Amino acid sequence: MNGVNENASLEGPTTVISSKNVTVRFGQIVALDDFSVNVPSGIVGLLGPNGAGKSTFIKAILGLLVPDKGDIRIAGRDSIAESNVVRDMIGYMPEHDCLMESFAAIDFVSYMGQISGMKKRDAMPRSHEMLDFVGIGEERYRLISSFSTGMKQRVKLAQAIVHDPKILLLDEPTNGMDPLGREEMLDLIRKISDSDKSILLSTHILEDVEKVSDHAMVISQGRMITQGNLDKLLAGKEDLKFVKVRGEEQAMEDFVKILQDSFEVHSVTQERGQTTIVFINPGDGNSIFKLSQQADVQLRAYSPKRATLEDIFIGTLDEDNGGVLDGN
Ligand SMILES: Nc1ncnc2c1ncn2[C@@H]1O[C@H](COP(=O)(O)OP(=O)(O)OP(=O)(O)O)[C@@H](O)[C@H]1O
Ligand SMILES: [Mg+2]
Repeated sequence: MNGVNENASLEGPTTVISSKNVTVRFGQIVALDDFSVNVPSGIVGLLGPNGAGKSTFIKAILGLLVPDKGDIRIAGRDSIAESNVVRDMIGYMPEHDCLMESFAAIDFVSYMGQISGMKKRDAMPRSHEMLDFVGIGEERYRLISSFSTGMKQRVKLAQAIVHDPKILLLDEPTNGMDPLGREEMLDLIRKISDSDKSILLSTHILEDVEKVSDHAMVISQGRMITQGNLDKLLAGKEDLKFVKVRGEEQAMEDFVKILQDSFEVHSVTQERGQTTIVFINPGDGNSIFKLSQQADVQLRAYSPKRATLEDIFIGTLDEDNGGVLDGN
């Protein structure tokens, strides 16, 4: 994304979007709370649990929401004062259906291109190209109302890129897609990024960000929790394990305490008489087996665990906000 921000420092990554002390309120709810961030070029994961403020941030970047306080600049342009220019620079894939169900896919994408300033004679061939790219074939002549969720997501992506924007804001692009569809969507996102686009990818799925991005920002309750290189944020989490135990309530409590004294415990959940503890243990299972005997609980499972957003950041969220992620 060279040249997008002429004011950017020669050292370090280019800032594509910068938000300064942005607050957005909906009545009593503070959706963004004095939110400041510099979004670098490339693919950046905007991670956060439900209600964190991801969609609000995206809408504020687009000028669809006017912040109560603060300002947002996109490649140096103001999101409100220069909203028309900003809209032309950005491709937006909304979280919810933006699709006009009574349109055929090809007509819809072409229509969206024209809304973004393209001439009709350019918009139509370009829409065919984009629908080819996202993998919508002859179905493009069918009404969108007959499409599956996965096909609708692809059409939403096609309309976001039809006018060849430099910056893409993708709000939960893999939502509702099956594993294969998700892989394909992430693959498309990677390909788009290779053609010199900057992409802000909002999601609550850490795995999706890990697959396409080096840089992540984690937000919760309208505030930035942490950001940076994903490998660094995930360092040490490769030894994440989960253990499931059953037993008397007191015994299970004792076991949790023993683990908390010896390891970094990330979460403790109880369900139907069983306690699951997620923690970091670089060692083998022998010591866990002994500790379970000591606490007089029955060991039901002990396995490595893939780190999720919740595992990694729940401690931070607890400390900072008293918040608990809802685990979706
Ligand atoms: N139009 C609105 N009116 C009232 N409250 C709103 C509105 N839009 C968002 N909110 C509230 O603002 C907060 C942030 O919402 P937002 O949609 O930005 O979260 P999100 O991170 O995108 O969550 P999700 O993962 O569920 O999409 C939430 O508490 C939400 O209920
Ligand atoms: Mg959202």
